[in-house]
Amino acid sequence: MAEKDTTQVSAEKAYYEDVPPPAQSFHVKGAAHAEWGLKDRLSRIFSPTTGHTVMLAFDHGYIMGPTTGLERMDIVIPNLAPHIDVFMATRGALRTCVPPTFNKGIALRSTAGPSILADDVTDEVLAVDIEDAIRMNASCMAIQTFIGSPFERQTIDNLNKAINAGNRYAIATLGVVAVGKQMERTTRFFLLATRMLAEFGVHLVKTYYCDDFKKVVAACPVPIVIAGGKKLPENEALTLAYHAIGDGAAGVDMGRNIFQADDPVAMVQAIGKVVHEGYSDKRAYEFYKDIAGNDKPVVKRGRRGRPKKIF
Ligand code: 5RP
Repeated sequence: MAEKDTTQVSAEKAYYEDVPPPAQSFHVKGAAHAEWGLKDRLSRIFSPTTGHTVMLAFDHGYIMGPTTGLERMDIVIPNLAPHIDVFMATRGALRTCVPPTFNKGIALRSTAGPSILADDVTDEVLAVDIEDAIRMNASCMAIQTFIGSPFERQTIDNLNKAINAGNRYAIATLGVVAVGKQMERTTRFFLLATRMLAEFGVHLVKTYYCDDFKKVVAACPVPIVIAGGKKLPENEALTLAYHAIGDGAAGVDMGRNIFQADDPVAMVQAIGKVVHEGYSDKRAYEFYKDIAGNDKPVVKRGRRGRPKKIF
């Protein structure tokens, strides 16, 4: 039994009788009515201060093998960790290259499919059990869909299975609008695909920037993060991020434009300036040039010249 509490405080002070409860609102589009656990996870993705996110996608190896810039994920990735909000990766990459002390958002790549050596990379299946997503403390599961491809129905099935499982445990689902080689990249397509995914019940959507992007954002009831795509010169990648944020994207989920940059650590920080601090693309590029080369990813070496332990 608890001891008798003898501390005396005036009832008025303790109960703030004249103070109304603080107004409650939530910073993530479409999630105001979500439950506490889901909001907690979404807050690891979208900064409660800016409402935005810098996600680093490094899941390329699952179809492409050791992609340029990611040959040594165990060395490259920890250097980028301090400057991002979310890592998007496969469970194998996360378990081996991201220290569990990272404690930020995790977008767990939860589908798998054929490699680039196969005829069609769109033939994806749901690969990760919800139990493993829970074990990985995933903030969201990333599920790729190929709307308009021969495997459209199968990838929609993957997505809905993940949403149903995630809903049981308040784990969000990130719907990825992937574009196969032969598929169109028009505003009409992105309007259709992003809206479909949102109506299936994803909590955030990843898609490509396009003409009339403001319309795509307006018609999508959940936040949109933009994909980076193939490597661009650093100034152009910053311009892409700047336009996307200006047109209402809630963040970026970039891969090659960060880890293939001349200086990935400087680039990820410059992207962060655009996404979280309202920098223009030009100012962010000046920032990039100022710091590039000063902070080259350092391979910390221990005794015998081996890379130092990261965790
Ligand atoms: C593919 C993905 C990948 O994670 C993403 O495209 C890779 O990032 P980037 O294209 O920026 O290198 O979601 O649909």
